[in-house]
Amino acid sequence: MKDIKILAVDDIEANRVSLQYLIQEYLENVELVLASSGEEALKITYKEEIDIIILDVQMPGLDGFDTAKYLKSNPRTQNIPIIFLTAAFKKEEFQQKGFQIGAIDYLTKPIENHQFINKLNLYIEVIIKNKQLEAVNDNLYKALQKEIELKEQVQKQQLELIEQSKMAALGEMIGNIAHQWRQPLSLITTCASGVKLNLQLGIDDKNETLASMQKIMNTSQDLSETIDNFRDLSYKEKLAKFNLSEIINKSIKAKEHLISENNIKVVTNLDDTIELTNLPNSLVQALVNLIHNSKDALEKSDLQKYIFIDSYINKDNLIEIIVRDNAGGIKTEYINKVFEPYFTTKHQAHGIGLGLNITYKVINDSMYGKIKINNTKFTYQDNEYEGAQVKITLPFKI
Ligand SMILES: Nc1ncnc2c1ncn2[C@@H]1O[C@H](COP(=O)(O)OP(=O)(O)OP(=O)(O)O)[C@@H](O)[C@H]1O
Ligand SMILES: [Mg+2]
Repeated sequence: MKDIKILAVDDIEANRVSLQYLIQEYLENVELVLASSGEEALKITYKEEIDIIILDVQMPGLDGFDTAKYLKSNPRTQNIPIIFLTAAFKKEEFQQKGFQIGAIDYLTKPIENHQFINKLNLYIEVIIKNKQLEAVNDNLYKALQKEIELKEQVQKQQLELIEQSKMAALGEMIGNIAHQWRQPLSLITTCASGVKLNLQLGIDDKNETLASMQKIMNTSQDLSETIDNFRDLSYKEKLAKFNLSEIINKSIKAKEHLISENNIKVVTNLDDTIELTNLPNSLVQALVNLIHNSKDALEKSDLQKYIFIDSYINKDNLIEIIVRDNAGGIKTEYINKVFEPYFTTKHQAHGIGLGLNITYKVINDSMYGKIKINNTKFTYQDNEYEGAQVKITLPFKI
């Protein structure tokens, strides 16, 4: 295929033939299309991609000027360069008219062959360069388009991932709720069926019924508090400055009835001056889980049951919270597994093994802290004890 297509328009056949001869002789990469009138020229430009038009001025029907005007008024053809070539309309005013219409050149005959070919060559070069630029532009545009498409795809994938992680978070949240609710619900059922059985058997033990009702009320209160905690957490808790002792005491209070029912003594040794900026509700959730675990472990103990909670600033200027009990500790073969999700040594009704996993995530991921668990031996009021100890380390600010 030739690089350039030229349309030559002239009503006189001899002129067309001599143009054809010249172009074929001197310009290799040019395909020539001939038209004998303005009308024919317009028809051709509608059908073919023309790069340059050489246009005679004086023609019957549509003359060169009118043909040029039509070409310039049509968006499809308005950018085709027009060169007028005339023997009759040589005067300055015609030249001006030609340029006004938008021609790039106005050549008058007689014109020396070489001069004409040189000029044509110059225009051809410019047009070829333009075409190359357009091709580069086109490629750039396509590359850009591709990049935009890719970006959109990545964005879409990211949105899908967010959606997936939302679903995962929802699943985790439901798991958490199940974890927090299982034990209280089974307690309520046990109390209620006890009262029912007594009634069915005609046993009228007012005190036992009252105690069961009280347990049901306390436990329901517990359930409603966990709902509040979850609501607070699911709203992506905001950072707040808070007093550590207040939050520790709030956590103990949240489990108060379980603690007193099981005759557990909570011994605190807190630095009341510690103020930190972090997530207070998340910390309550973490501490409540630890207290709950100690309570579960202590349930079977015959000794005086203790939960010790200390808070202080360590030598690295970090806050430390220690939760310790005297329930005997965790079996060594389990100690590396306790933070894993769904690891439990408890009966299904008492635990699903999420408490420490949630606590680990809360402390590490949300609060930028650290949590460790180990067994410890210690003396309290001249008695030697053994138990599990959880150490939480937190920064003052996140
Ligand atoms: N204070 C503790 N003393 C002894 N063992 C503990 C103590 N805390 C945790 N464990 C052990 O670690 C296991 C995992 O604890 P975790 O809190 O993750 O789950 P869970 O208490 O079994 O169930 P859930 O918390 O979901 O109700 C417990 O089953 C228990 O064996
Ligand atoms: Mg637990």
